Amino acid sequence: GWDAALPHFWALLGPYDEVVLCFLPQHLTGTLVLSVFTAVLGFFQYGYSLGVINAPQKVIEAHYGRVLGIVSPDRYATNASGEDGTFLQAGTEGTLPPLTDISEDLATSPHILTMYWSLSVSVFAIGGMVSSFTVGWIGDRLGRVKAMLVVNVLSIAGNLLMGLAKFGPSHILIISGRAVTGLYCGLSSGLVPMYVSEVSPTALRGALGTLHQLAIVTGILFSQVLGLDFLLGNDEMWPLLLGLSGVAALLQFFLLLLCPESPRYLYIKLGKVEEAKKNLKRLRGNCDPMKEIEEMEKEKQEAASEKKVSIKQLFTSSKYRQAVIVALMVQISQQFSGINAIFYYSTNIFERAGVEQPVYATIGVGVVNTVFTVISSQFAWMSYVSMVAIFLFVIFFEVGPGPIPWFIVAELFSQGPRPAAIAVAGFCNWACNFIVGMCFQYIADLCGPYVFVIFAGLLLVFFLFAYFKVPETKGKSFEEIAAAFRRKKLSAKAMTELQDLRRSEEA
Ligand code: GLC
Repeated sequence: GWDAALPHFWALLGPYDEVVLCFLPQHLTGTLVLSVFTAVLGFFQYGYSLGVINAPQKVIEAHYGRVLGIVSPDRYATNASGEDGTFLQAGTEGTLPPLTDISEDLATSPHILTMYWSLSVSVFAIGGMVSSFTVGWIGDRLGRVKAMLVVNVLSIAGNLLMGLAKFGPSHILIISGRAVTGLYCGLSSGLVPMYVSEVSPTALRGALGTLHQLAIVTGILFSQVLGLDFLLGNDEMWPLLLGLSGVAALLQFFLLLLCPESPRYLYIKLGKVEEAKKNLKRLRGNCDPMKEIEEMEKEKQEAASEKKVSIKQLFTSSKYRQAVIVALMVQISQQFSGINAIFYYSTNIFERAGVEQPVYATIGVGVVNTVFTVISSQFAWMSYVSMVAIFLFVIFFEVGPGPIPWFIVAELFSQGPRPAAIAVAGFCNWACNFIVGMCFQYIADLCGPYVFVIFAGLLLVFFLFAYFKVPETKGKSFEEIAAAFRRKKLSAKAMTELQDLRRSEEA
């Protein structure tokens, strides 16, 4: 019957099973929906900024080429007649004049262009890397809502820089705009899960947690569709395309004014009991807040009895070693799966593989990505193989390594080490994101299509790691998770002792 089938259904949905549960109305109030929606607008902006430089790569590179006075040879020379938005073949005469002072003698090195482009793509992750370290501090100092409000200023500033890129040295404006937007996204990628997990009722915490990933992929998809050349991905409109997530920032800014501060923050960090109760009432509607208040009181005592753990202690104390390794490895595997090589560069990848309308294939990836978040060569058919392969890759990514690293770290650590662990894991995720964004084009130039073999090899290692080392956290308390780590550690110790014994016997 239905009851027997239900567990299979949940299993099929993987980490999204709880998203379905959240449609049960008794948990949801208007304020909770508004608060979560507003918060995850931060992740929507993350997705948008991540995906937005994919489709217009050629148009903007062409613009860089003109601004920098580089005339690139074959790789970018798609139209030797020199129509706007394309490169002039070196030595072409009688064609459109360049926008700025192109000295034709300037060495025509596409490497400079690759460098500027890779930097424009990946400097975003440097911003994220730097700011993700400060999440705990800002969130505690200002409170979750005020912190999200304040950091929105970064998003608006970054988007303005990019939106106005044509009025100055565009490569500099874009690179700095993306760095500043990255700063925003790094902060947001820590503050949003913090706020969402704190305002959600326990039964919905996991479900609402997976909405981050949904918001990211929706953002990516939006940016891909708007990147079509007849929409905003053309030589005239690309600054608007790049700067458009400023609108989401503004929307988030105003909606945040309506969102209640996290009751957990008010109660545990500030000791403001009455305010916490008031906000809890707004979030839970008619439900009796007493049970949750008791829970908070317990958490408060726990937090008081447990010392705050610094980042240094996190690495030096053997108590946390296993959990730290897992927390870092899930980030490294998420990013070194190469997923963002696709979301940053798929249009270029598809074009090299001979796909005729690469931007549509990129949108295809975005659609597959989104759908599965909710639940190159001379042969023409090879272009379909490349598309199907990437679609499949994205499907599997989105049911595992996509959503899980965003919420598992908080589950692996208790109150004391949690902020330090979140900072370190966030930093690690962004650092790997940067490495992929910065190096992919170079490695792809070196190895051609075999570049993905590298990702495949890494994924095999990550698969084995996850299988043997990552504990199941679903439905477990923090004590149970810690116990699982202790068991693994003990059995590892026992194994080494056994091996030592065998060796000494053999000797
Ligand atoms: C995860 C990754 C992010 C990536 C996205 C793709 O959220 O953290 O970097 O772009 O998945 O769906």
